Formats: sequence, C-alpha cells, structure tokens
Amino acid sequence: MTAGDKPFLTDIEELRRRARKDMDRGAVTSSYGLDIGQAIDVLNRVLASEIVCVLRYKRHFYMATGINAEPVAQEFLQHANDEQLHADQVALRITQLGGAPDFDPEGLLTRSIAEYKPGTSLVDMIKEDLLAERVVIMWYGEIVRWFGDQDSTTRRLMEELLAKEEEHANDLAGLLEELDR
Ligand SMILES: [Fe+2]
Ligand SMILES: [Fe+2]
Repeated sequence: MTAGDKPFLTDIEELRRRARKDMDRGAVTSSYGLDIGQAIDVLNRVLASEIVCVLRYKRHFYMATGINAEPVAQEFLQHANDEQLHADQVALRITQLGGAPDFDPEGLLTRSIAEYKPGTSLVDMIKEDLLAERVVIMWYGEIVRWFGDQDSTTRRLMEELLAKEEEHANDLAGLLEELDR
C-alpha cells in the first residue's frame, strides 16, 4: 500500500455536520467504532468484578490476625481502596458512554469475573487474592485488545487498571514469599 492509498482526514465541514447529529449522546459520536451496548456490558462486568474485589479485600483486611498480620492487613486495605477507585472510574466511563452503571447486588457475582472467597488463614486469603488478580489480569488484557483503536479512551482506562492489578499480584506474591521464610 502506498501513502496515496490511505484516506486522508475527513473533511472538516463533514465532521461538523456529523457532530451536530445526535447531540444528546454527548461524548459518543458516529465515529464510535464499537457496538456501544456491548461496550457498556463489558464495562458493567468490570464494575461488578471491581466491587467483588473491594468486598473480598475488605473482608480480608478485617479478618487478618496473627503475628504477621499487620503489614498484610495494610496491603489488603490499600488494595480495597485501589479497587474502589477502579469501580468509580469504570462507573464514570459507563455514564460517558450513555449507559447506566449496574450496582445491583442481585447477580453481582454472576456479572463478576473475580470470585469472592472469604479465606481463613492469612496465607489462604493472600492466595485467593492472588488468584483473583491473575484472572482479572488475563481478562483485562483481552478487554484492552478488544477496545483497541476503536475506543482509545476506554482502552487507556483499562490499561491503567491492568497495570494496577499487576502491581497487586506482584505485592501478593511478595507477601507469600516473605511468609514462607
Ligand atoms: Fe481493580
Ligand atoms: Fe487488584
């Protein structure tokens, strides 16, 4: 393909005409490259997963006891707060896309890709959290690729979340190693 085959930018008058259509859709224009309903569904599943992660980490924070508990509990709390921020960022993005964030507790676990495992011992809890993070890392990677160039704003948001989940997994693996010693 030569440079000449690639279409040049859309004529500005044409862009202005298109922008004037469906003004009530706010940030969503006719250039939006994906099925918007599907995009909102995916984000609502991300939202559910983040909420389940908040709940799991909160439970673990309050249940962390024993001689090694304090630094681990602090890590659980930090993660709970990070996941809460993720939930808020995703909910905001859903509204920007013209959707409604689903906070219905009914069916939350069904929508979530992450599991809620209460855990008993400190090591158990860390392992469950690490597992949940690893599932989320794989799934968010797919979501990043799915949004791709079609919705770069959501893709960047999901990349940001993905990077944080990788950090979480890394922290948890480090804690397991320390407790093993
Ligand atoms: Fe998260
Ligand atoms: Fe996480």
